[in-house]
Amino acid sequence: MAEPKENPLMEKIVSLCKRRGFIFQSSEIYGGINGFWDYGPLGAELKKNIRDCWWNDMVRGRDDIVGLESSIIMHPKVWEASGHVGGFTDPMVDCKISKQRYRADQLFFAAVIVEKKDKLFGAGPTDVIGYVSALESERLLDELMDKAISLKRKKAIQGEILPFEIKDLTQATPEEIPMIPSPATGELGSLTPPRAFNMMFETYVGALRDESAIAYLRPETAQGMFVDFKAVVDTGRVKIPFGIAQIGKSFRNEITPRNFVFRSREFEQMEMEYFISDQDDWEKWYRYWINWCHNWLRSVGVADSRLSESVHPKEKLAFYSKGTTDIMFDFPFGVQELWGIAARGDYDLSQHAKFSGASLAYFDEVTKRRYVPHVIEPAVGVDRIALAILCSAYAEDQAPDEKGNMESRVVMRFHPRIAPIKVAVFPLLKNKPDLVNKAKEVRDLLRPQMSVFYDDAGAIGRRYRRQDEAGTPFGVTIDFDTLGEKGPELKDTVTLRDRDTMKQERVKISELSAMLLAKIR
Ligand code: GAP
Repeated sequence: MAEPKENPLMEKIVSLCKRRGFIFQSSEIYGGINGFWDYGPLGAELKKNIRDCWWNDMVRGRDDIVGLESSIIMHPKVWEASGHVGGFTDPMVDCKISKQRYRADQLFFAAVIVEKKDKLFGAGPTDVIGYVSALESERLLDELMDKAISLKRKKAIQGEILPFEIKDLTQATPEEIPMIPSPATGELGSLTPPRAFNMMFETYVGALRDESAIAYLRPETAQGMFVDFKAVVDTGRVKIPFGIAQIGKSFRNEITPRNFVFRSREFEQMEMEYFISDQDDWEKWYRYWINWCHNWLRSVGVADSRLSESVHPKEKLAFYSKGTTDIMFDFPFGVQELWGIAARGDYDLSQHAKFSGASLAYFDEVTKRRYVPHVIEPAVGVDRIALAILCSAYAEDQAPDEKGNMESRVVMRFHPRIAPIKVAVFPLLKNKPDLVNKAKEVRDLLRPQMSVFYDDAGAIGRRYRRQDEAGTPFGVTIDFDTLGEKGPELKDTVTLRDRDTMKQERVKISELSAMLLAKIR
């Protein structure tokens, strides 16, 4: 499995996810399947909350955006028109000995050049003594240097290793390829030259298994919005500017799925195509959506300090693209793309009009003008957001145990909007029927409004700790005061504990629901 190695924080997050039922390997009892993941009870709630928040903010909370659920398998021509059949490729390299497969742009190499010292004049002649290679990582330079030092030692060469010029395999010349060692075996001559690998999963529709039956699992949800553009305009009473949004599964046969759910082969996307007039100020909308995405990430608890923007340089943009900005997140394995916002011009609608023969122009009732709209596309992965939220929430601090001694605790500081469980309800003691009955009454009172977890097992401190790890923002304890044993003024009140401050306050049961709702929305 592509588990992060030598990254203690990432290892802690992955192990917490497994231990607490956020994320498991898919088909684990069969040894797992690389690039596929299952979300356990807490993970399923977390993902559902991410989807719901996005849908509420992106679709239900606005007049100008409508929703869509298009099919995963579409007419194969869709993917010819979109360019995916011809161009959705990654450069791939194989190691013939180990049978490992790499993305050529993630496999780096350098020539090791040694400067031999000249006794009289200092600097002497330089020699290429061989090549070293390593996979993309935070330690890339150190790893290449370690390998260069051992190569020099093995060849018993004296002198100083000169600074590297690091390249990826796509930049290697045909003469260099046989001299670059495989990162798996260290053997020379086992790497193949890079070749294009299409990432779309193929399947067959119907009983025949021939060329004419080939179809694809969609590699993005976006094409559904373009293909259904006319149907939505004809039925949705939408007027430009407007957007079509969709949440759904996408599939990419990634050569090297890795970094937990960051890059997987089956994942979920939340995409929105915002259609604007061809004469509108596209930059205004482009900036608007970049800001919207930033604000939304903050509103679900992605740490602001770990967000940044990466603007694609003009020369690297596709010919039709006017601009692309990625919102980046500082993951434990490096700063990586979280959300892409692209100004795609009229490319997609024009391509589908060309390939299908349908007119995808928009008629403006006011100006009486017909034109092909331009589009701004914010596209993000639910799994990547889940991972950014898990990384933002993970914290270790000190909390008092039963006897008041400080002990370290792991706490997931999820934003209450996104927390899988909103409130845990605890009877102080399990063997006192009056406490248990009252606690179940409170659970049932809250349950229609929010996700509630009832727990009566073990000491109360241990129960708090378990909920801290699950990221539950609030804990409600029913004690003898609740039953009125210390006087009428505390009867029908509970203690409400805050996960982050660990402060406890006394709250009337009759006010609990409204108070919690105000905090979790
Ligand atoms: N329609 C445009 C599009 O799909 P993309 O940059 O390829 O653009 C958009 O994907 C987002 O989908 C990414 O920013 C990322 O959040 C998510 N994503 C892409 N590939 C992924 C993968 N293999 N695993 C998990 N998430 C992925």
